[in-house]
Amino acid sequence: MSTLDIRPLGSCLGAAVHGIDVKAMDDATEAALKAAMAQHRVIVIRDQHLSPEQQKVFSLRFGPLMALPYVKPLDGHPEVIAVLKETDEVKVSTFGSWWHADFSYLEEPPVYSILHAKELPPKGGDTLFADLCAAWDGLSDGMKALLEPLNVMHSGFVYGTRVVDDGGRNQTRGVVISKGNPEADVERAHPLVRYHAPSGRKALFASPTYTTRLEDMTEAESKPILEFLYQHMTRPEYTLRQVWQDHDLLMWDNRAVVHLAVNDYDGHRRLLHRTTAGRERPARAAA
Ligand code: SIN
Repeated sequence: MSTLDIRPLGSCLGAAVHGIDVKAMDDATEAALKAAMAQHRVIVIRDQHLSPEQQKVFSLRFGPLMALPYVKPLDGHPEVIAVLKETDEVKVSTFGSWWHADFSYLEEPPVYSILHAKELPPKGGDTLFADLCAAWDGLSDGMKALLEPLNVMHSGFVYGTRVVDDGGRNQTRGVVISKGNPEADVERAHPLVRYHAPSGRKALFASPTYTTRLEDMTEAESKPILEFLYQHMTRPEYTLRQVWQDHDLLMWDNRAVVHLAVNDYDGHRRLLHRTTAGRERPARAAA
């Protein structure tokens, strides 16, 4: 097994990996990175210099690549998108600026999302992560017993509505909003408490971006429980703030974290290339 220089970042999630070039990655390093992902759920590999093609080759080690729905990809690279805000995009919402796990309304939502920093604002533009395994562990036994049998409904409708309500000014260029798209607007049930196989832990699986309500309940009935869970899962002790460094390559596990892009850098350009690898139908832990 390769020994990597892995330095934990947050109290419960996140680690920085130093001293490797993923372009020259061998199978032992791949296994070590996968073990680091299982343990830390977010890892940032410093100082990588990857073309879109090389980012795809790296990402493929973690699963089949996924072309994102409703997002225009890079020319010639259907599985790579530019997460881009231009200097003149002022007072517009940006891609992913509410807490979410990626595309959780799909039957098999994506597992790993991978961002490569290409151009960063002088300050701001951080990404926040919250640990859904730690959040689950932090609940009382009574609350766990109440939540564990429940299913929760996910839909792209909530996100599309938020963007439209924001004046219809579309976030990152190239992103096509989902409102009105029958595939995104469908409601899909997933377990509220999801099994995270790589760590053997349980994770909450809901977010204010994609969750509409608890299954078999109205939105009004669900709201107090969901609002509590959103507040609980994003408590500071469960979070990590990624302050981007030039050439960072960062990946997270959507089965076990939610994330949010901080939109606080109007007047500056920010560009990251994003790939998405692996898909999995959310499932409960075996009884
Ligand atoms: C995303 O949700 O993929 C974007 C995150 C970011 O821009 O920091």
